[in-house]
Amino acid sequence: MIIYKTESEIALMKEAAMLVSKTLTEVAKVLKPGMTTLQIDKLCADFIKQHNAISSFLNYRGYPFTICASVNDVVVHGFPNDIPLQNGDIVSIDMGVILNGWHGDHAYTFILGEADPAAIQLVKITKESLYKGIEKAIVNNRIGDIAFAIQEHTEIKNGYGVVRELVGHGLGRSLHEDPQMPNYGKRGSGPKLKENLVLAIEPMINLGSREVYTDEDGWTVRTRDGKPSVHFEHDVCVKRNKALILSDYSIIEAAEKANPNLNTSYYS
Ligand code: MF3
Ligand code: CO
Repeated sequence: MIIYKTESEIALMKEAAMLVSKTLTEVAKVLKPGMTTLQIDKLCADFIKQHNAISSFLNYRGYPFTICASVNDVVVHGFPNDIPLQNGDIVSIDMGVILNGWHGDHAYTFILGEADPAAIQLVKITKESLYKGIEKAIVNNRIGDIAFAIQEHTEIKNGYGVVRELVGHGLGRSLHEDPQMPNYGKRGSGPKLKENLVLAIEPMINLGSREVYTDEDGWTVRTRDGKPSVHFEHDVCVKRNKALILSDYSIIEAAEKANPNLNTSYYS
């Protein structure tokens, strides 16, 4: 069942999404080689607590952390750990909060220092594909129009692997609501978009093959070929002429550009 939101509910969801954006901005300020993803998890847990929110992920189906930290060949749902991050790592941080009963859930991928140019290009194209999908999140389009726009930019035009096993989702009082939001599909297919549907759109794109597997920990999803994967996620409200993005990358990007340990060469 698809649940449409009222304007006042969307305002509350905007606050939840923005708290995630602000938390990821704190990460962008301090991220550097040598830091561990457990340290980032603690930073995020402390920050959301200070802002009167709780984690959407912690204890969700037994998930044991506040964030997912997915480095290099980890696609999504990576456990924070005590391995120091290295120059050249591709680091996706995904986080969800519950604020005043509403979920925010979004993700950003950072590049630490001098990375493989092919991986940097993957980051650029994956982020672009998210915005190409968002452009289609308007009334009377269908889920398949968003999905195809993402697949076209990544798989069809750039030869990357679009993960099939994991999808985006509706978002609201629950972390995962209907409908499912795949990153591949046919134009004109799937549920029709109506005003004030809130979607978490989250392309998970592999440099090589689309094949993935899950580690023994039951969560960590990795690429089969060991090549890098990139994940971006925005919370988006369907509107008549132009989708409303509830989360905000501009504050994360400003912090990213100001941090000399992060590679933003793909912006220019
Ligand atoms: N953004 C992801 C999702 O929507 C993260 C979920 S992690 C989990 O599924 F721990 F909450 F499962
Ligand atoms: Co999500």
